[in-house]
Amino acid sequence: MDDTANYIASFLSLDNIQLEAVAHEEMQRDDIQPSIGPEVGKLLGLLIRLMRARRVLEMGTCLGYSTIWLAQALQTTGGKLVSIEYKDDLFEDTRRNIALAGLTDVVELIKGDARVIIEQVHGPFDMILQDSDKNLYPLLLERSIALTRQYGIIVADDALFKPRGIPAALSEPMHDYNQRVFADTRLYSTILPIGDGVTISVKLCD
Ligand SMILES: C[S@@+](CC[C@H](N)C(=O)[O-])C[C@H]1O[C@@H](n2cnc3c(N)ncnc32)[C@H](O)[C@@H]1O
Repeated sequence: MDDTANYIASFLSLDNIQLEAVAHEEMQRDDIQPSIGPEVGKLLGLLIRLMRARRVLEMGTCLGYSTIWLAQALQTTGGKLVSIEYKDDLFEDTRRNIALAGLTDVVELIKGDARVIIEQVHGPFDMILQDSDKNLYPLLLERSIALTRQYGIIVADDALFKPRGIPAALSEPMHDYNQRVFADTRLYSTILPIGDGVTISVKLCD
């Protein structure tokens, strides 16, 4: 980390003690894709508090690192999180981590393919976090817009895969997603260079 990143990191206390254990578990395992990290976690916690968000949808739960950041914030607003993960073992690991974080009551964990589940859940959501298969970002964008309330937000992690030289199989769908949200007049979007990059889009209208 450079000096600026170190400086920022020095302020980013974890909102829930279990986040440290989950980050440690992530480092120990070789079957885990990277989590959002503390900078993005803190941003999500800030946005939920700012918006007084009550309903949030997450795609791509993994071990529950991002889930805990979202749920901890939603506990302060009286809100609920719906989180989707399709791998059996990760679903169970997350269930355990959410319980250890004391957030079971805030989270509805759904085991299944986000492509199927997103058609079954009911909106409107204040916020949607997309952090599943990168190919699904452009594919599920239209449904995500439909499920988001006016002036709600869609957050996409890993926004800067392309300029950071990540292989095309992962970075091209992400680039496609960025092109789509910036061209869409229903959305007002920006990209923040924290973590692996975050695209945030406010839904202006249907
Ligand atoms: C980058 S990881 C998520 C990390 C997590 N959001 C965090 O920050 O802690 C992506 C996750 O999406 C899940 N995933 C990928 N494709 C999926 C799909 N079609 N439906 C549901 N989950 C999916 C993977 O199993 C993996 O656990």
